[in-house]
Amino acid sequence: MDLAIVSLKGKSSEMIARAAAKHFEKVSSFDLRNIRVDVNREGSAVIHEDKNLGEYDCVYLRGSYQYADLLTSIAIALKGKVYMPLDPDSFLISHNKFLTEVKLKEDGIPFPVTHLVYKTEMAKNLARNFKYPVVFKTLAGTHGKGVMFADSIESANSLIDMLEKMREPFLIQEFIETGATDIRAVVIGQEVISMQRTARAGELRAGIHSGGEGRKIELSYEDKQIAKKAAKALKADIIAVDLLKGPTRTVVTEVNTSPGIVGLTAATKMDVAGEIASALYKKTREFIAEKEGNKYLLDLSGVGDSIGSGLENAKEQITKLVIKAGRIILPPTLTENTDFEPDEPVKIKIEKDRIEVERLHASGSSERPKKVKVRR
Ligand SMILES: Nc1ncnc2c1ncn2[C@@H]1O[C@H](COP(=O)(O)OP(=O)(O)O)[C@@H](O)[C@H]1O
Ligand SMILES: [Mg+2]
Repeated sequence: MDLAIVSLKGKSSEMIARAAAKHFEKVSSFDLRNIRVDVNREGSAVIHEDKNLGEYDCVYLRGSYQYADLLTSIAIALKGKVYMPLDPDSFLISHNKFLTEVKLKEDGIPFPVTHLVYKTEMAKNLARNFKYPVVFKTLAGTHGKGVMFADSIESANSLIDMLEKMREPFLIQEFIETGATDIRAVVIGQEVISMQRTARAGELRAGIHSGGEGRKIELSYEDKQIAKKAAKALKADIIAVDLLKGPTRTVVTEVNTSPGIVGLTAATKMDVAGEIASALYKKTREFIAEKEGNKYLLDLSGVGDSIGSGLENAKEQITKLVIKAGRIILPPTLTENTDFEPDEPVKIKIEKDRIEVERLHASGSSERPKKVKVRR
């Protein structure tokens, strides 16, 4: 199987290419700026010099927000022909903080309360009723540039006057108190690798580019589910999700389709490039297997014996049952394998020596119900 990494040739893409060489037969790295998309009567083709990218098995597209249109066009031209860890829409959505919010809202993922405004007057009217501080953001800002904090109506009004000069809509957002930290969670298939970033003194922006420092953290099950759900909403197998952990809830502030992995690797001491490379390989195999209708190629590694009775791909665990205050508590590894959301509706079937918990199937959904069984 062959992999093409199309990127701006930064250090992260280089690390991933090197790690991927252990899995793929051929790994080619192409500069995004040298790619051409041809559209004619027969269809479309993505070309780099004499290479047709449609002939690869997997194409991993990476690049910064200036290239969102180009990345989207390439992904549209390649969709269905090769495996890509990102859906074409994800490039445009992720590079616009408001579109990201709208998309996440659709899937019930928590986001700070946000207003999109264009007119100064409208913004000033809103500013009268805010609880301060509030956050101002330009739509396509990155590296912390374009994020401003106003701690009073006076500073909000002067920021609004300044933003008017840009002649483009901007965001006014609820301030989430995090003690000047944020969380970068990189979702890689079913794995989530995360670090907490702490802003340097005199800063509220915790991003590494704003001088923030990262350290490894293990996310709670609920926060991991938020990150995974955000990835799913964007139809992305590999994506970074930025979280703010406030006093009462965790919210997503943005997603990044092309996360840098140098800082994350240093902070977590994990082989992030290796994880990405093996996820790309595994998903490409699945894509090819599905394309060829050959289910035998599906990678079932890590999947234990099926416990039968309709539970395909089930994992089995022999464990001691924990019952506290009359409640059965399942081991976290089991909970994680179900992908259940907190508070989601489930059907529980009980008989002596046996319990089955099943996700309630949304009508018309093609997704297979998730189940967890406990039996003596
Ligand atoms: N609503 C908010 N409340 C509190 N802090 C925020 C909020 N939004 C952003 N920040 C801080 O500002 C930083 C940069 O904001 P972000 O939206 O991630 O923009 P960028 O795309 O520039 O990284 C975040 O990492 C976080 O530390
Ligand atoms: Mg950010």
